[in-house]
Amino acid sequence: MSHYILSIDQGTTSSRAIIFDEKGSIIQLEQQEFEQYYPENGWVEHNPKDIWTSTLAVCQQAIANAKVEISTIGICNQRETTLVWNKITGETLYNAIVWQDRRTSDYCDSIRTKENVAFIRDKTGLLIDPYFSATKIRWILENVDGARELAEQGELLFGTVDSYLIWMLTGGEKHVTDASNASRTLLFNIHTQQWDDELLDLFSIPKSILPEVLNSADKFGLTLPELLGTTIPINGVAGDQQAALFGQNCFKKGMAKSTYGTGGFLMVNTGDHACLSKNKLLTTVAYRLNNKTTYALEGSIFIAGAAVTWLRDGLNVIDSPEQSSETASKVPYDHGVYLVPAFTGLGAPHWDAHARGGLFGLTRATGMTEIISATLQSVGYQTRDLQQCIIEDGITIESLRVDGGMSRDNWTMKFLADILQIEVKRPATVETSALGVALLAGLKAGIYDSLEDINTLDSVAETFVPDISQQYSDKLYCKWLQAVESTKLFKP
Ligand code: G3P
Repeated sequence: MSHYILSIDQGTTSSRAIIFDEKGSIIQLEQQEFEQYYPENGWVEHNPKDIWTSTLAVCQQAIANAKVEISTIGICNQRETTLVWNKITGETLYNAIVWQDRRTSDYCDSIRTKENVAFIRDKTGLLIDPYFSATKIRWILENVDGARELAEQGELLFGTVDSYLIWMLTGGEKHVTDASNASRTLLFNIHTQQWDDELLDLFSIPKSILPEVLNSADKFGLTLPELLGTTIPINGVAGDQQAALFGQNCFKKGMAKSTYGTGGFLMVNTGDHACLSKNKLLTTVAYRLNNKTTYALEGSIFIAGAAVTWLRDGLNVIDSPEQSSETASKVPYDHGVYLVPAFTGLGAPHWDAHARGGLFGLTRATGMTEIISATLQSVGYQTRDLQQCIIEDGITIESLRVDGGMSRDNWTMKFLADILQIEVKRPATVETSALGVALLAGLKAGIYDSLEDINTLDSVAETFVPDISQQYSDKLYCKWLQAVESTKLFKP
């Protein structure tokens, strides 16, 4: 009998449901975008109802259109995004505070002592930054009327999006998450694999609101029959970036992938060693299988594909992403214009929450062509920043696997290979986050026996080979470094 796996990919701008067959091929894909809310400068929110209704709708459509029986479900999600809800009424207390949201920047600054930085890094592998969930939870408890009292009375639950969706899909039966999502909260000790009391004290968060942490392939619960037509087990959960690492079959130490969606996230598998970066990369849980943790080093870029969306919806200079690469290909790489897309601050390795974007090198000859090219190039330059840090941390990446919507753009992927001076490999399906949790779910459900079994599905469809010199690549990159430093100096 053939098996079909439903993956839910709940991302920053859309919810998707993808049905895979057991060979990892997509047989159905449904997607719904939903509204982004920007109530104040640097704030980003989602309405939890939009997250839930769009997710449920795409799952129902996918199942109805594919007309196949689903054996198991995997969920991957935008990470760190924070929801708090009442466990009795099921009502959320506030909108979901999105990972990009910077409202807790000042609070982060106020606790960033040398001792706290070291203490938090040693336990969580992370830095003090508004990106992660803890300061967002604290903000809700401090700013929503009555929230702290309800939390102290044990009536509130916190979850990242995976946790919230599982709670909704199981009719409030299960309040759980997986180790990869837990590792992004600033509250989880990645070495002991436990919620950490000292961190909970530091952020004044009661332990009772936290979900139980399971393996990434585990029994997360059964869906209510009235939602998807029948009861289906949820067997795989991972943060979308970790899911992509798994979906790209990066099971060996040193294997790396970079996912280009809204942001860009480069992750390298470091095996059973939680390698602490000297260059402000994050140490994170890649996945946990049968209580054995595999770790990764991660560099997070906040704006990648979102910069192309800005060209289309903000500047109205392109109609489609395809148009941006067509335009970029009309000028040589060294046109001299640099865009630093620090629209929501700078992520790794700069971690400057207050920085905002900048455009450099403008002359009377500069036109939209150069600005569009600079926008696409910024993705390559930001990835090179991460590559430099990884090299300085003693890890060599021989080639980079890419995925996510923006990886479909050949011009940008070729520029990436040129600027990194390594091969860039793109798989047949770039829906690797969804594939990753389908594989995790399939592993638990017995559709796959082992990682070796999954490895037989590996498929690289296209390889981009660098063909500019190291010297030319370095020359281009040097000016980028100047542009980033200048951006950091300007505080709006
Ligand atoms: O850490 C944030 C990340 O998980 C968001 O991913 O694909 O929604 O941009 P994406």
